[in-house]
Amino acid sequence: MRKHIVAGNWKMNTTVADGVNLAKEVVAAASEVPSSVKLIIAPPFTHLVPVAEVVKGSVVGLSAQNCADKVSGAYTGEVSVDMLVSASCEYTILGHSERRQYYGETDAKLVEKVKLAIAAGLSPIFCVGENLEEREAGRHFDVVAEQVKNVLYTLSAEEMAKVIVAYEPVWAIGTGKTATAEQAQEIHACIRKVLADKFGALADDITILYGGSCKPSNAKELFACPDIDGGLIGGAALKASDFIAIAKSF
Ligand code: PGA
Repeated sequence: MRKHIVAGNWKMNTTVADGVNLAKEVVAAASEVPSSVKLIIAPPFTHLVPVAEVVKGSVVGLSAQNCADKVSGAYTGEVSVDMLVSASCEYTILGHSERRQYYGETDAKLVEKVKLAIAAGLSPIFCVGENLEEREAGRHFDVVAEQVKNVLYTLSAEEMAKVIVAYEPVWAIGTGKTATAEQAQEIHACIRKVLADKFGALADDITILYGGSCKPSNAKELFACPDIDGGLIGGAALKASDFIAIAKSF
């Protein structure tokens, strides 16, 4: 049985003090969420160490939002996987569309990052998703399949077993436009099929999250789909009550 996960991507929001408070609110309300649902929060780098203290001993897991594609050394401004592990992270988001779009992250770079993260003991939350133009041209299945193949097909089955996939249509991120449950389900099923073509039965055990304007009002319908195993939540993760309400939708 694959895991149900609800992960909060805080992006570049909150001060350290506000982030610590938000983490405390999530931890305090976590007992309301069914124990079958794993909660994860992904604060900015500066918040990881104090937030790790808050989530320690709780059911809430800690994730980064990115990592370097190099092990260590003269890479000004970068944060390595070993640094993340030393800050008590268990996960890192990788390949978010905002990283791909604004910071030029290529599939080749993501291969390096995903492999380094796994080797360090982190589980990558690997994001894929088409933009509006690609969707309107009817290329969404191909685009997402390519993103999956270019990066995840380079992994061994043992490595793949550590990966969480997140499907996030770019046109739905932060726009208030959610993919319908039907649109999301058909892409999730396609991702699982692409994974099965390479990894066989392991594909059934891979958690695939939906992201893009997921909120308390639409989470139930999305999470009811057979291939949607949870959510990667942006805006709604900045309010503990909304984040918890989403996780309670299972
Ligand atoms: P959103 O962001 O929920 O604010 O649309 C999701 C994400 O980018 O992870």
